[in-house]
Order: sequence, then structure tokens, then C-alpha cells
Amino acid sequence: MFERLERMPDDPILGLMAAFRADADTRKVDLGVGVYRDDRGDTPVLDSVRRAEQAVLARQTSKTYVAPAGNAGFNQAMEKLVFGEGHATVKAGRVRTVQAPGGCGALRLGAELIHLAMPDATVHVSTPTWANHVPLMTGSGMKLDRYAYYDARTGGVNFGAMMEALDRLPQRAVVLLHGSCHNPTGADLSEAQWRDVLALVKRRGLVPFIDMAYQGLGTGVAEDAFGVRLFAAELPEVVVAVSCSKNFGLYRERTGALHLISESPAAADAVLSQLVRIARTIYSMPPDHGAAIVHEILTNDGLRAAWLDEVGAMRTRIANLRRDLVSRLAKAYPQRDFSFIERQRGMFSYLGVNVDQVRTLREKHHVYMTDDSRSNIAGLRNENIGCLAEAVAEGLAAA
Ligand code: LMR
Repeated sequence: MFERLERMPDDPILGLMAAFRADADTRKVDLGVGVYRDDRGDTPVLDSVRRAEQAVLARQTSKTYVAPAGNAGFNQAMEKLVFGEGHATVKAGRVRTVQAPGGCGALRLGAELIHLAMPDATVHVSTPTWANHVPLMTGSGMKLDRYAYYDARTGGVNFGAMMEALDRLPQRAVVLLHGSCHNPTGADLSEAQWRDVLALVKRRGLVPFIDMAYQGLGTGVAEDAFGVRLFAAELPEVVVAVSCSKNFGLYRERTGALHLISESPAAADAVLSQLVRIARTIYSMPPDHGAAIVHEILTNDGLRAAWLDEVGAMRTRIANLRRDLVSRLAKAYPQRDFSFIERQRGMFSYLGVNVDQVRTLREKHHVYMTDDSRSNIAGLRNENIGCLAEAVAEGLAAA
């Protein structure tokens, strides 16, 4: 039977990660997969994570099963991190949380739940969106469509076009929004724009599904959750998928959560019962280790403060790299305005070079980015930022 299966092309992001690892050139630069790197190019285990991990291991006496909803303490701590201490909707008993195998697991659980509740639902994703959103959503059986979002001329959100597109959607259409640090563009909604989208979502009866994978890496832990907290306060139903991969540096531990806001505590209980059944039929229970670490950090004042410092340091380094890159590009290629890179947030920006230039960057300069020129700014280092700017300028000048 397997002879009937065709070979699939490599995943656009993970395939690039493998190609980078296989490149023996010492000058190579990885701007591909979205992992944070320090100025040596390493992705170290956070100090707060290491300390929490030691405490978890010292205390652990059993590896018995936890539960399909995961670690209850982690779920509660994540509600506080995501919605903020004392959020009215949490206090009203309308939020239910399940631990998930990473942000991807959370997204897929959310998609499965929506498809179960509304078998004819269509999810609308931004143009562009993270490549893996598409299979994660459609794998549940949901139909997928797109709404206008990025404006390549300004490097910001084409808000007029976005609102027009959303205003045409039928009632109960699902809208996938990025909580902050939009992947792949780095172009985020302002607080005023979040309010406008909220008013439209209310008016048209849309269903918001918010993906927040980078809380703390944009403007701040609370600031990055502005949209999520606003929507959770104002709407009867919201689906929120979060990841601990980037802000806790727990990538391989597959740690995330799905938060469901329902209209009443009774509806929320029904939702939770469906979610644990869905989890049980796919992977039964999420892996424990990463969630135990996050729980330890978020419930210990000293570790929490240390973690907040570490997230702040990652955020500052990315902001500094953005500023440096803009100033190097301004010198290397003054014909083009790259200042949008400094206004964008989070790990990613489009450099705005075409696919041939991307390939030349890879083949000639050993710089790896996806074909659409999405670049992980956190992959830059002080020692190679100038070379990258010159290589980009060389490609643009030759075109
Ligand atoms: C990315 O966008 O590069 C990351 O979220 C990693 C991934 O799984 O694609």
C-alpha cells in the first residue's frame, strides 16, 4: 500500500532548518526557523528554566499519568499570564484551559473543537500567515479562506483592506488573528485597531480564534496580550491558542495551552468535556515536563522575576538588532527605505527581496531564510549583520 504514496515536499521552514544544519560553511547565518538566538548564535536553556527544572526533578516521585487536560496548576498559571491577574471573564468562571502539545497542538485542538461545533465553518487567515496555520486548520476539516492584511509598500497592516474583507464575512465565520508579533510579517495591530476589529467582530457576529505564540517578545508581556485580554473581556466566545516555545525557550518540550471563553460556566464545562475527549482521541495526554517547568516559574516569585528579566533581555536584543539592521541597510542600499523593520515587532520581517535573491543569499553567502524573504531577526549577530546588509544590497543592485 505504501507504494501508492507520493513523496511529499519538505516543510518550507523545517526543511530549511535541516539544510542549514547540513551546511559546513562556518560563516552560515540562520534566519529561517523561528527560534531565539543569542549573539553567539546559540539557543541556550534559560537560567530560570534550568532552575525550575532542577526543582521539578528533585520533587518528582512518579511518572504516572497526569490527565488529558494536562497539569491543572499550569493551566491556572497560564490563565493569569495570558489574561492578567483578576480578569473579569476568568473570575466569572467562563474560561477553561487545557494544556496542549505546543502551540501547534493548541491550534489543532481549537480547530477540531470549532469544526465539531460548526461542521460547515470556514476559518479566515491573514494574507500572509504562518505557513503551518493552513494544514493545522484544514486538517480538522475546516474550510479555509484569506483576508487582506500586510501592506508591502509600508511594511505595516493594510487596515482599510483588512476591515473591508472582514466586513464581508458571514455571521459565525472564524477569523484567525495573531495576538502579537505577526508571523511572518512582524506587522501588528495597534491598540486602536484591536478596538476597531472588536467592534466589527461584535457587529458581524464573527468567531475570533487568536494565536499568541510570542507573548513578551514584542512590546511587553502585558502589552502583547492587549488584544487577547480585550476580546476575552468583551465577547461571549473566544478561542485562544498560546505557545511557551519562544518566551520560555521550551521548543522541544512541546508546551502550550488552549483557552476557551464561553458564554456561561455551564457552556464552558461542556466545552472542556469535548476538548478532553478530542485530546484523548489524538494523543491522550500532553507531555508533562515543559508544563511542570512553566508552572514552577510562574508560581515562584523569584523564578518569575528572573524569567521576566530573561524575556525582557530577548525582547531588547531583538529590538536592537532591528535598529542596527535598518541603519546598516540604509548605508548599504540607500535607494530603499527599510525603516519598517524597526517598526515591526517580534522575530520576523520580510526583507522584501525576491525568490532568486533569496536563493543567491543562500548559495553564495550561506544566509538561510524562507523563499518569501521572511527573516528571523533574532538569528542575526553583531558580527554578521553588516555582511547581511551588504549581501542584500548586492542582490538588489544586481536585479
Ligand atoms: C516558525 O515560524 O519558524 C516557528 O514557529 C517554527 C515552526 O514550527 O514553524
